[in-house]
Amino acid sequence: MVIERAPLEDELGDVLEKAMRLSGLGEAALAARTGLEVARICDALDYRPDFTADEVRRLAAVLGLNEVGLAALAGGRYPLPEIAGLPFCLYPLRMPHGVGVVNACLVADCAQNHGLLFDTGADQAQLRRVWPRNIQRVDAVFITHAETEHAGGLAGLRAQYGDIPVYAPAGAKLAGAKSLDEGGGVEIAGFVVHALSTPGHAAAHNCYEVRASRAPSGVSLLVSGDLLFAGSAGGCYFSGPLLRAGLTRLLRELPETTVVAPGHGPLTTIGHERAFNPFAS
Ligand SMILES: [Fe+2]
Repeated sequence: MVIERAPLEDELGDVLEKAMRLSGLGEAALAARTGLEVARICDALDYRPDFTADEVRRLAAVLGLNEVGLAALAGGRYPLPEIAGLPFCLYPLRMPHGVGVVNACLVADCAQNHGLLFDTGADQAQLRRVWPRNIQRVDAVFITHAETEHAGGLAGLRAQYGDIPVYAPAGAKLAGAKSLDEGGGVEIAGFVVHALSTPGHAAAHNCYEVRASRAPSGVSLLVSGDLLFAGSAGGCYFSGPLLRAGLTRLLRELPETTVVAPGHGPLTTIGHERAFNPFAS
């Protein structure tokens, strides 16, 4: 059992900015609808939030956000769940990138020295620094979306491990990758991996549901890329409505015990984000 200590990807200001973009409201329009002063909204966007409980309630109502989660973020006390019950080993790989941190992750049978890699980080050198010593081989790589910070390490990996199978969303521009569209599945190295097509952050974006072949009804892992984060969501660089639809689908349809490994920020669970994520509706 693990409780993650990695910092959240987003603070209140980031969540408000993303929610304003999703709802098409600027600072002035949001101020008019909530009755707050524009300056107070600008302060929050500049990471100086000072909202009362009533103001958080009004912001949540106008932006269509989960008030419980928004209040927790506003108070700097967004909770994180216990991570437990996966019938395999999960290795989160956290790499500095620009001013932030980007995640990849490995899954492996705990008795084995090989496994599956999800995303690669921006380059192979960063990946090597965080690579678990006991993992000697990669059976396959799954890419959530083809941005450099998530897939830039692919060329170096291929150079190190040879011609490993690479899977990516249909429409992703990644040379040599096999496309996995909605419902596409792969059984490899003791795992079953299913793709969920989740455009929104990017036009070509997959989440991956991962199960151990020997425990098909056990706790599963969702690799959520830049769709669902602990306490937030990815930016809507392709389609806001599709991003929100994808979030709603994940939070409604997946079992609450599902462990979530996002492209940024700490591990979480579906049940936890269903209760607390500001974008859960
Ligand atoms: Fe990202």
